[in-house]
Amino acid sequence: MKKKIKKILNKKGKSKIVSLTAYSKNIAKILDKYCDIVLVGDSMANVLYGHKDTHKISLQNIIQHALSVKRGIKKSLLVVDMPKGSYANKKLAVKNAKIIINLTKCDAVKLESNNKNFSIIYELVKAKIPVMGHIGFTPQFQKKFKIQGDSMNGINKLLKEALTIQKAGAFSIVLECLTPKASKLITKNLKIPTIGIGSSSNCDGQILVTDDMLGMSGFYPKFVKKYALLNRVIEKAVKKYTRDVKLKKFPTTKNFLNGREY
Ligand code: KIV
Repeated sequence: MKKKIKKILNKKGKSKIVSLTAYSKNIAKILDKYCDIVLVGDSMANVLYGHKDTHKISLQNIIQHALSVKRGIKKSLLVVDMPKGSYANKKLAVKNAKIIINLTKCDAVKLESNNKNFSIIYELVKAKIPVMGHIGFTPQFQKKFKIQGDSMNGINKLLKEALTIQKAGAFSIVLECLTPKASKLITKNLKIPTIGIGSSSNCDGQILVTDDMLGMSGFYPKFVKKYALLNRVIEKAVKKYTRDVKLKKFPTTKNFLNGREY
């Protein structure tokens, strides 16, 4: 088992796992200093490309962004999302996961569970591809947002799904939008770490979409805490630049190039 993955597994029950998403090098370079896991998420579909869901992101899109992110990563575990359709059957999943790993040199792939595709995880792990699972609200398979695990029956179903994903060989699992009761029970019963998004502090770690927590995306459900209002910072800077250009305050002699100086 890879050292980086062992490190994540060893954190369970000891210290919280910090994860965020990245789609490009400059952000990844900052995240790498603090995060245990950096995810190239298919959330880029909404956040970067302005799609209404995550379905239209291609393997090529994900690989392109993962290549950029990889250039900013030195120590974190780099996980890349498998786009919808790219793991529709075992053969396709292994072929595409190998393409992602070989081209981007990432450490692992993540795929969403539809409560049926456990054998795909098993097949990937058998091919020595580390896999992160994803249960609860899974945007590739569910259209309408719904909190997951709000009945005992629902909680037991989620627990069974999580245990099967663990058995198939996943090294960790994202719990998206689960009730605190569900995330507590699942985290307690799994040996592998749970990474929560909108699933309370009961998980072994947390992940957020970076653009959301930076106040850049315009998507702020209750589970997102805005740690900055970057949209305002950027707008202020753009406004100032606009004024300077119009008033001929930029560029000044300070910005002129002399000879071969750059
Ligand atoms: O695509 C993504 O960013 C994700 C996280 C929300 C876990 O899957």
